[in-house]
Amino acid sequence: MFRLAPSILSANFAKLGQEITDVIASGADIVHFDVMDNHYVPNLTIGPLVCEAIRPVTDAIIDVHLMVEPVDRIIPDFAKAGANIISFHPEASNHIDRTIGLIKEQGCKAGLVFNPATPLYYLDHVLDKLDLILIMSVNPGFGGQKFIPEALNKLRAVRKRLDASGNSNILLEIDGGVKVDNIAEIARAGADTFVAGSAIYNAGKDTDPHRYDSVVAAFRAELAKV
Ligand code: DX5
Ligand code: ZN
Repeated sequence: MFRLAPSILSANFAKLGQEITDVIASGADIVHFDVMDNHYVPNLTIGPLVCEAIRPVTDAIIDVHLMVEPVDRIIPDFAKAGANIISFHPEASNHIDRTIGLIKEQGCKAGLVFNPATPLYYLDHVLDKLDLILIMSVNPGFGGQKFIPEALNKLRAVRKRLDASGNSNILLEIDGGVKVDNIAEIARAGADTFVAGSAIYNAGKDTDPHRYDSVVAAFRAELAKV
């Protein structure tokens, strides 16, 4: 019912394949793949080539979070590179419905991402077409930032809306500042899918293949209380 999606933004990029194999072996569910363009957000990360390179390494869902503007041109490249879910920010697309359609035409699941100050009305006319809603609990661009508590109110509002509209199958994901000590509260507010970058990947940078076991178990133990 609850899915853990470690963000590879905080992984050791010199050993990316091994990092992903190890974190999934430790019980994480989804590979969260942060794409930044130094334009929509003030940082630059990874693109379709890296997605293609990690695709054979894991059977886990690759959840591509596009923090790029414009978005449409790059979507087919990620689909071809093996992405399963592609999410984008409404401010970065001139035609939100068209971008959602493009993601689906390419055979991927589509997600819409809400920055801390982005209003939820972007859901009004496209909710039924979405597979995932991603609530940002930090301003996008960097790992290791502090959780913004207002995101909990936003999660509650979206959860209410999903349940009331018979859309409970849409994943409700949270991204930014998720830690062992706040994940239970976040789950109670309605999230079912949890991105965690620094909290997971900084838990062990050595060569022990089990280095993520204890942090993943700690997250699971907190979620079991919900
Ligand atoms: C931020 C990214 C996040 C980030 C989360 O723009 O979208 O996925 O990696 O990192 P933590 O968990 O360290 O806040
Ligand atoms: Zn992200």
